[in-house]
Amino acid sequence: MRMYDCISAKKAGRELSKKEIEYIVGGFTEGSIPDYQMSAFLMAVCLKGMTEKETLFLTMAMAESGDVLDLSPIEGKKVDKHSTGGVGDKTTLIVAPIVAALKVPVAKMSGRGLGHTGGTIDKLESFPGFVTELSEKKFYAQVNQIHLALMAQTANLAPADKKIYALRDVTATVDSIPLIASSIMSKKLAAGADVIVLDVKAGSGAFMKTEEEAVLLAKEMVKIGNDAGKKTCAVVTDMSQPLGYAIGNILEVKEAIRALRGEGAKDLMEASYTLAAQMLLGAGRVVDFNEGYALAESAVKSGAAFEKFCEFVRAQGGDESYARNPEKFARAAFVREVKAEKKGYITRMQTEEIGMVSLLLGVGRETKESVIDLSAGIQICVKIGDYVKAGDTIALLHANDNTKMAEAEIRLLDAVIIEENAKKSPKHVLAIL
Ligand code: URA
Repeated sequence: MRMYDCISAKKAGRELSKKEIEYIVGGFTEGSIPDYQMSAFLMAVCLKGMTEKETLFLTMAMAESGDVLDLSPIEGKKVDKHSTGGVGDKTTLIVAPIVAALKVPVAKMSGRGLGHTGGTIDKLESFPGFVTELSEKKFYAQVNQIHLALMAQTANLAPADKKIYALRDVTATVDSIPLIASSIMSKKLAAGADVIVLDVKAGSGAFMKTEEEAVLLAKEMVKIGNDAGKKTCAVVTDMSQPLGYAIGNILEVKEAIRALRGEGAKDLMEASYTLAAQMLLGAGRVVDFNEGYALAESAVKSGAAFEKFCEFVRAQGGDESYARNPEKFARAAFVREVKAEKKGYITRMQTEEIGMVSLLLGVGRETKESVIDLSAGIQICVKIGDYVKAGDTIALLHANDNTKMAEAEIRLLDAVIIEENAKKSPKHVLAIL
């Protein structure tokens, strides 16, 4: 087999066989296929697409390129949840303890933040002592004991995807639905859960800018998951504005704690209860979506979900007293109020840019090596559809480095659009597939 022929076949629109796709993934991962040939192949995929069969073969080849977790030591149907990434998305911190409080095992691997989106692992490390690198033995034992464990992705999880993604990132080949779907699903399949619930974000802060594109991606991922023998479903949720009100590690953890105590923002709770309901349904804990939604609400109302969160923090070595007394968390040295420059309605937000402003303030990493600032972030005080007067506070910027505040303020003001005529606030949950 020759890589030249595979590139040529894809360029001509011919469907590649399982063997050919395994040859490409295997050869590139071990280094016998060079970057320039893989780049040409990826560009051909971007331009010609992939059939469902090809996408499944690609996903499986990447999933099997490294460790595939065997979760059989954990009792019951194991559920996992994955978000395609957004700004202010702290739903895992809320959904996982809700589902675990209802005795459905949540065995989840999470990533760190990169680019304008945050990562659950970074958020959890806001708790002093919290350990995210668990041995498989400890991971299994903890899920059996308390129905919830969350660990950082192991280095050898889908290494082919890691190498291919790095190349896509510098060759303008990220935005291809089969490549995104196979990249995400390869890691989910390797992580070993029986049930996978996907949260596909749509809007200005997401990979997929429109609902239509997000639905296409969601459908493709659901098909891959089900074809691979996992019960898979997707929820398409709005990312035309930040989810909830907080962006940044400690600020988001505090917002999640408020949510678990029954004081969550409407959009955040609707997204969280919907995802929880789908997880409960997938695991067979409930017979229909409405029952799952009501059960998820009751787990918050009764305090069971919050208690599960505290138990989980304690089990992974974190200081639980921070969850019970969130005022203990460090605060940023500087807080600047951003005020509306004119009156009118909030009609749009450039959410990706708001994520970038949070990076400027120290949230997340600009490169893999950057050290993140846990207390930095943004509290957004408005939502699309709200009316503001000139001088009203639209956001609070939190930073430990005051030198970036002026630039952050200007960019944030530009990213929150105020117009004379009102626009309806967006729906929070756009589709369930
Ligand atoms: N997230 C991934 O893991 N892969 C992609 O290709 C895009 C988003």
